Amino acid sequence: MVKLTGLKKVKTAVFISGTGSNLKNLIKFSKIKNSPISIDLIFSNTTKAKGLKFSNQFNIKKYISNFKDSKIAEAKILNLLKKENISFICLAGFMRILSKSFIRKFSGKIVNIHPSLLPKYKGLDTHIKAIKNKDKVTGCTVHFVTAKLDSGKIIIQKKVKISKKDTPTSLAKKVLRQEHKLYPVAINKIFN
Ligand code: GRF
Repeated sequence: MVKLTGLKKVKTAVFISGTGSNLKNLIKFSKIKNSPISIDLIFSNTTKAKGLKFSNQFNIKKYISNFKDSKIAEAKILNLLKKENISFICLAGFMRILSKSFIRKFSGKIVNIHPSLLPKYKGLDTHIKAIKNKDKVTGCTVHFVTAKLDSGKIIIQKKVKISKKDTPTSLAKKVLRQEHKLYPVAINKIFN
């Protein structure tokens, strides 16, 4: 893993596709003096991602490329990451699957946040599945990204109780609140 050397923060890119509440949270975390990372690039596969607004708000470079031709998109991203000296990637609601070759080039340096207690409920609709199965507990996981979806080494997890009244929407809100706490803790754990 990339370890912090000296006082320099690890240049990080955050990949998003949607609201970007985790992105905003990571940006705020990165500004804390002792944070191991700085956020230097926001990447989205869609212009519709609401989280792109944080690029202007926090003066962070953004890059958008749809994944219609994922090989071309990934090649462009890799060039940019190199140009910007980015050595760490946080996926935060990024809805595209990165290729094996992309992941290999950033091996051990890409992490993701997932709204379930992995290995339970990989993929989409985690809250619907948890409620349907009458689970009493769900949660969120930060893990390293490997070629196999939502299957890389788990860094940290946080449990969230499911109440009888919970709907997928209310549960998503509850879990998201914990995600915002968990992602910075996971990053500190990686670099310290
Ligand atoms: C989060 O629940 C995250 O775990 C999942 O997608 C959602 C993204 O939310 N992968 P946001 O865009 O960070 O608000």
